[in-house]
Amino acid sequence: MKQMKLLLLIMGLALVRGIRVQHGHCKEHNQNLTGAWHTIALASNDMSKIRREGVFRMALHKVTDKNDKIYGEFTIRKNGRCHRLSLTAYKTDKEHQYLSLYSGANIFYITHIKRNEYFMITLYNYHKNKKTLMFALYGRNREVREEIKENFKELCLNNNLNERDIVYLTHFDRCEELA
Ligand SMILES: *[C@@H]1O[C@H](CO)[C@@H](O)[C@H](O)[C@H]1NC(C)=O
Repeated sequence: MKQMKLLLLIMGLALVRGIRVQHGHCKEHNQNLTGAWHTIALASNDMSKIRREGVFRMALHKVTDKNDKIYGEFTIRKNGRCHRLSLTAYKTDKEHQYLSLYSGANIFYITHIKRNEYFMITLYNYHKNKKTLMFALYGRNREVREEIKENFKELCLNNNLNERDIVYLTHFDRCEELA
């Protein structure tokens, strides 16, 4: 029931955005995310979400960036087996802010982006009256420069997480045989 309401809210926001006149879109801010991506690292203030087989231990493979939404194709492991997962996120009126439904409701922000190299998101998950904070680092390749990983670590530490709250995805997590 609650999920239904959230979905309606999200659809509403997507519609509102749809009829709004686009303005002030500088070229350098218009970073199209479409294409192949890999999850490099995840961090959370609730490790149960991102430990092995955690609901947010998702390996990103591909993004399609449309004007009002982005689609993500992920794989996730459950009982040792890889499953495909396709998710849609709706852009809101706030710059770099997105909404999606998955394991509750999520609001996330793309905080760092270099479209040919990496992007980072900060995500708030709302599930059963609990709010969880998460960070993710994605790379165009399976590895990113050490400096980018350091920046990601700094982002996490600046938000009261510890180094042990960061996990780096392994080949096992990435379910590469499915990709
Ligand atoms: C991003 O690029 C893809 C293909 O290159 C295109 O189909 C899509 O419309 C673009 N998205 C935006 C938001 O410009």
